[in-house]
Amino acid sequence: MTEESSGTSPTPKRDSHGRALLGGVPLSELVRSGTLRTPSYVYDLDAIAAEARELHQGFGSEAHLVAFAVKANSAGPVVRTLAAEGCGADVVSGAELDVAIACGVAPSSIVYNGVAKRDDEIDKALGVGILAIQIESVEEIGRVAARARALGLDRRAQISLRINPAVDFDALETHANIATGHDEAKFGIAQEDLPRALEIIRGAPEVRLVGLGHHIGSQIPTVQAYRTAARTLFSLAAAFAGNGSLRDKLLFLDTGGGFGIDYGAGRPPRPREFVQAALEERKLCELADIPLLVEPGRSLVGSHGMLISRVVQAKSSSVRGTTRRWLMIDAGMNDLIRPALYQARHRVVPLDTNGASADFTATLWRVVGPVCESSDDFGVHALPDTAPTYVALLDAGAYGFTMSNQYNGRALPDEVFLRGGQVVAVSRAKSQDDWVADRIAIGR
Ligand code: LLP
Repeated sequence: MTEESSGTSPTPKRDSHGRALLGGVPLSELVRSGTLRTPSYVYDLDAIAAEARELHQGFGSEAHLVAFAVKANSAGPVVRTLAAEGCGADVVSGAELDVAIACGVAPSSIVYNGVAKRDDEIDKALGVGILAIQIESVEEIGRVAARARALGLDRRAQISLRINPAVDFDALETHANIATGHDEAKFGIAQEDLPRALEIIRGAPEVRLVGLGHHIGSQIPTVQAYRTAARTLFSLAAAFAGNGSLRDKLLFLDTGGGFGIDYGAGRPPRPREFVQAALEERKLCELADIPLLVEPGRSLVGSHGMLISRVVQAKSSSVRGTTRRWLMIDAGMNDLIRPALYQARHRVVPLDTNGASADFTATLWRVVGPVCESSDDFGVHALPDTAPTYVALLDAGAYGFTMSNQYNGRALPDEVFLRGGQVVAVSRAKSQDDWVADRIAIGR
């Protein structure tokens, strides 16, 4: 995720007219027909389903659960597609829990992570009977037990312990803001606190420990860090649960998500390769009878969405004898915040090449958005010398729309969903006029 690293992967598929395709659909045609207004996210639901199928196959005949991290993309068509492919869900709020259930995910396939779950959110999770509330601190155990008592549940509250495996930070090889499995992170229970947590669980009849897990971070580029962390988790599980009655109760071991995707700087291992490593480590620790749970978000959806944007204008400036070229587009950091927040690079390509197999390496443009922040900057990209009318920002299917906001009085982006070469759903964002009306209405 270095900002100026040059892209090596091919740009998206194009038809013979040079029109960029997603799910077989020429996107400029959707713009022309008015179905796709800019800025807009567009997603390929078939490719998302195929991603889930490939990951399931990676488990072979092993019992498992793929719990989709809804935070990556919470749109109904996406969650319904993954639920139909047999995925569960990893949620981080009561609202995400509602989305998952309404989209057809069985509560018994839902895990709930988060360091500061509110009482009403815990109540909701306990009420519907999810697979497990993932406990992130020793203190949280008592809170969940108290809520179970207050609700007068006729069953024990199922919990799992999210352990912080204290992976060496540099070994995670990802951006500091998305690394979670090192020992300074707010996430998870420190290994030294595990005996204390188990002691409290033993004394709390309202809860039942059903899982142990971790999530070390996101956009992990190699299998090694994932394997090392899995080894730590499984060794702990074997030590604490190996012989006792705990072991019989464990319904799953959870090695989290984090499988990296290709943003243009090279292809990381496929998600099934991360799973293979975890399965191998689980076997070495003689825990192969306990199902493996993973929590992928980005790897299921990231490569199958684009952000389509219109070029508002070009700008060229002369600075000390050199010419700088800027491409001002109608999508900003409010629509796609990843470059501003993580120095992430999303390839920017023309939506149409107008039939010419143009050599895009000729001109370097700095692509920027309209937001009044210097960090509203999508980086330098090689694009045709004549500014394109529309561009696509690639690999924006994960943590794109879900992190968008209305800073600077901007509307949220639209979303368009494709399946079988057709548009099957469109989400129109509230307009900027609505934003104006909402702000003015306060206190009136
Ligand atoms: N499980 C837990 C507990 C998580 O916190 C996350 C992501 C996942 C699973 C899914 O990770 P994934 O497979 O998507 O890497 N906004 C950032 C990513 C933040 C990830 C937060 N947690 C980005 O745009 O890169």
